[in-house]
Amino acid sequence: MTKVLSAVAWPYANGPRHIGHVAGFGVPSDVFSRYMRMAGHDVLMVSGSDEHGTPILIAADEAGVTPQELVDRNHRLIVEDLVGLGLTYDLYTRTTTGNHHAVVQELFTGVYENGYFVEQTTKGAISPSTGRTLPDRYIEGTCPICGYDGARGDQCDNCGNQLDPADLINPKSKINGETPEFIETQHFFLDLPALAEALTAWLDEREATGLWRPNVIRFSQNILKEIRPRAMTRDIDWGIAIPLPEWQDNPTKKLYVWFDAVVGYLSASIEWARRSGDADAWREWWNRPEALSYYFMGKDNITFHSQIWPAELLAYNGKGSHGGSAHQLGELNLPTEVVSSEFLTMEGKKFSSSRKIVIYVKDLLERYQPDAFRYFVAVAGPESQDSDFSWAEFVRRTNDELVAGWGNLVNRTATLIHKNFGEIPGAGELGDPERAVLVTVADAFDTVGTLIATHRQKAAISEAMRVVGEVNKYVSDNEPWKLAKDPADRERLGTILHVMAQAVNDLNLLLSPFLPFTANAVDATLGGSGRIAPLPRIEDVTDLDDASRTYPVITGDYGDVPQWGSRPISVGASVEKPTPVFVKLDPSIVNEELARLG
Ligand code: MF3
Ligand code: ZN
Repeated sequence: MTKVLSAVAWPYANGPRHIGHVAGFGVPSDVFSRYMRMAGHDVLMVSGSDEHGTPILIAADEAGVTPQELVDRNHRLIVEDLVGLGLTYDLYTRTTTGNHHAVVQELFTGVYENGYFVEQTTKGAISPSTGRTLPDRYIEGTCPICGYDGARGDQCDNCGNQLDPADLINPKSKINGETPEFIETQHFFLDLPALAEALTAWLDEREATGLWRPNVIRFSQNILKEIRPRAMTRDIDWGIAIPLPEWQDNPTKKLYVWFDAVVGYLSASIEWARRSGDADAWREWWNRPEALSYYFMGKDNITFHSQIWPAELLAYNGKGSHGGSAHQLGELNLPTEVVSSEFLTMEGKKFSSSRKIVIYVKDLLERYQPDAFRYFVAVAGPESQDSDFSWAEFVRRTNDELVAGWGNLVNRTATLIHKNFGEIPGAGELGDPERAVLVTVADAFDTVGTLIATHRQKAAISEAMRVVGEVNKYVSDNEPWKLAKDPADRERLGTILHVMAQAVNDLNLLLSPFLPFTANAVDATLGGSGRIAPLPRIEDVTDLDDASRTYPVITGDYGDVPQWGSRPISVGASVEKPTPVFVKLDPSIVNEELARLG
């Protein structure tokens, strides 16, 4: 049983999440985790809301509430969204917990004591009209590397490079258009050049596995060439304090997101362990070198997961050119794989809340089945190239593939069994076509499983749906409804219906990582328990380090899942008249939804 960490990107709690966000990190990480559990691995899936930083301050200002009130509200909304999508986090927590603060500070202390921070005076931007510090993300200008004129002070979305605001050519404040003034300010820089050799060795070793997506490994190796120290602190009053005597109480210097949320993978694992009753349980995933870790995110996060986070871990472990030794938490594992997706667009355009080119997860879930969306993401999402969500495609995929393909097979199987036997019939002698179709289905477990394990979910679901097509063809070729007319054909009818039930049962297991809600419905339809795919729940918990505070988390019991592979259908299980598991969409929703867009 391998320990597998599913480390899922931490969404910003500055507002509700739209489907572009969850298509990149949410659905793929859940499909992977569900499959790995069924394949017998010990999965720990963690994430949480990223609640510090400038985007939160700006949103709180706009809403006229405190930052804490804003993140309390948004964290709850995001938790509801993610549970609504059926994402099986062992723990989905947040960055404003006592535990997270303590773990981040411990990581800082370890890196500091090993000598991988340099204090430097740099130029910080302020707004000349208000005198307030201007956050990096709110400065725009021309990228000094690629010349793109919409680059932000923290990074260029065109070439993906990380920037400092002072690098920008012709910088302007996004808030009011004025040219920022740069003043001297002191910050802690992570000494990335001192870690470059160790990072290079680690990436070379990762490349040799051949597992990383080519664009991710290429990009990660490319940015090593530009490596230089990066500020891990910011002039801001909302965030985690710097745990050093002269800095601890400074109200306007806090740790930056890349020394805050990114540490969440570790802190959430520790919080999960503390809540499980075995406070050291997290070590199995972090200290044992044979444990595997997969990080799921959108492509704008690659730098931070393939350079900054591994560098922080190396520095904490004392593995750079300054040497050192692992601090309190022991030697921590670097990522096995950075699984980055590309971008999703909406009706051919970039998602934009302000221009109303958006559908929020909550609105989607109010009107459509979560599995219809999960299916769309798996089959047409931005897995290894940018892809587009359009309402017309969503309707087409749902109706032509889910309803007419899989839904129809389930429905006619259950209907015929209910009408003719009322229970799963036993099989008489199997002919060649029966044996062939059952082998095709059983063989799909290996193919589909390998594809999911190697993050080729698009190919995996396509293969599963191809096999659904084969079974549908077997049914059409054998026309069991005709046999039902003649009592002399009853045994043959029973055999065909048994084979159909067996195929549906197997296909249902095969599709369950993608379609967990309907997997349970299909299972119940065929007389099963209706509990083959576990679902997450929301729990209100008390902060482990501050008894006066409670907050919602996502958690669940996912240990008891069926094994990945064909299992014999229970002959004699009673089959009621089925209700369709998928809702067929009226084509008129396309225009209704388009009218809602800006
Ligand atoms: N909230 C940030 C973003 O959405 C960071 C997410 S990833 C993590 O870009 F590393 F911070 F976890
Ligand atoms: Zn650029």
